[in-house]
Amino acid sequence: MKRMLQILTIFVVVVALASPVVAASSRKGKKVFKKSCKTCHTRKGEGGKLSPLAKTMAQWRLYFKKDQHSDKPEIWQGMSEKDQQNLLKFFLDFALDAEQAETCG
Ligand code: HEC
Repeated sequence: MKRMLQILTIFVVVVALASPVVAASSRKGKKVFKKSCKTCHTRKGEGGKLSPLAKTMAQWRLYFKKDQHSDKPEIWQGMSEKDQQNLLKFFLDFALDAEQAETCG
């Protein structure tokens, strides 16, 4: 069983390294969003309600590249590179002009 896990781990690492595009995960991004953003971004929260639908894909790309939460830069600094990539993937997948619009949450 342990050996199986080792092999599986190696396999996952190899696949992840071999395919950087696939590596960013929308599902993980959603978790980052819940953990790192929803603390303030609720309807009555300090940051106000925020969902991926707040911006178009181009606007989200720009926001991640340029703005990086200039209102409170420490939030961006607190996120790992990986978390940022996953978060961006999540926002892009459910952005205002994305193919599949978010219906709930
Ligand atoms: C400590 C509280 C806090 C956290 C945590 C937080 N924000 Fe914010 N956010 C704010 C505040 C305050 C504003 C400014 C709101 C305003 O100007 O009305 C803001 C503004 C924004 C805006 C600009 C909204 C717009 O209309 O352009 C975006 C986008 C945003 N936050 C994204 C995020 C993301 C993504 C995360 C998680 C990584 C996050 N925020 C986490 C407090 C927070």
